[in-house]
Amino acid sequence: METVLSGIRPTGNLHLGNYFGALRNFIRMQEEYNCYFFIADYHSLTTHPTPHDLHGNVKQVLVEYLACGLDPEKSTLYIQSDVPETSELYLLLNMNAYVGELQRCTSFKEKIRKQPENINAGLLTYPTLMAADILIHRANYVPVGKDQEQHLEMTRTFARRFNRMYHEYFPEPEAFNFGKDLVKIPGLDGTGKMGKSEGEGNAIFLADAPEVIRKKVMRAVTDAGPTKKHQRKPEPIRNLFQLMHVVSKPETVQFFDDAYNNMAIRYGDMKKQLAEDMVAFTAPIREKILELSANDEYLHKVAKLGCEKARASASKTVSDVRHIIGFREF
Ligand code: TRP
Repeated sequence: METVLSGIRPTGNLHLGNYFGALRNFIRMQEEYNCYFFIADYHSLTTHPTPHDLHGNVKQVLVEYLACGLDPEKSTLYIQSDVPETSELYLLLNMNAYVGELQRCTSFKEKIRKQPENINAGLLTYPTLMAADILIHRANYVPVGKDQEQHLEMTRTFARRFNRMYHEYFPEPEAFNFGKDLVKIPGLDGTGKMGKSEGEGNAIFLADAPEVIRKKVMRAVTDAGPTKKHQRKPEPIRNLFQLMHVVSKPETVQFFDDAYNNMAIRYGDMKKQLAEDMVAFTAPIREKILELSANDEYLHKVAKLGCEKARASASKTVSDVRHIIGFREF
């Protein structure tokens, strides 16, 4: 069975964009692949969170992964810092990662621009840590967004370099392509995709209470309405339809689409419907989030099981790599 691996940085709650863009696919993959999904808490240290925030964010992501349907029995669900083998592989990979190539990485250059007061070595070597995450389980496929493609390319470079220097050991991981299943989830502010950095109100979080969802949806950007029959929809309207498409019944979408084409649409009604369908869609997930958040004993068990499974695979890789490099017993 081929191995799939992905990680998520624990920075705030998951939203519908994360759900449809990533989690829903992870849930399908756990049936067909040997899956590793982990919470990248080492990576999140580059922004210096307080211990309290770090711990809370890791818990939140773990709870939300589980609430969405990731199954700790089917997949290996773990916390990066529970697997110290990753940091050893990171050290070893850093010896063959060149400062020049790390400095040329787009995400690093962006950080220099955005946080010039905190350009730490962890940021520079972010790609080697990510490569260690992937290579430690000798993963074949990595489902990630476009913004992570360069990091994945660097992982392949590091794997190839190692294989060339010693002998063929690491598979070269490929991006997992969902093809036509990949849906773009727009935000509520009229342009672009749903994201947590786009400002309050743009994203619907899985943990949002029904009143919060209703409020956000009712404030979504629209326009004055169509002035011609079968008029092309401008982006904010297309976005509302796209959101409706993922949470509502096809008949509902059809009803409002017809109304738009006949110039009879009332955006207020459409938003009310959209909000109710979002509430209905997220309700079971939110219920599980609340239930799991109060069950530390279960979370402890899940983390422990994940740690054991991940370390079994990771320690095998590190032991092989140590031997290959020449760290051998006397
Ligand atoms: N860099 C990824 C992000 O910001 C998170 C991540 C860390 C990751 N290690 C990984 C993703 C390994 C895939 C595989 O989204």
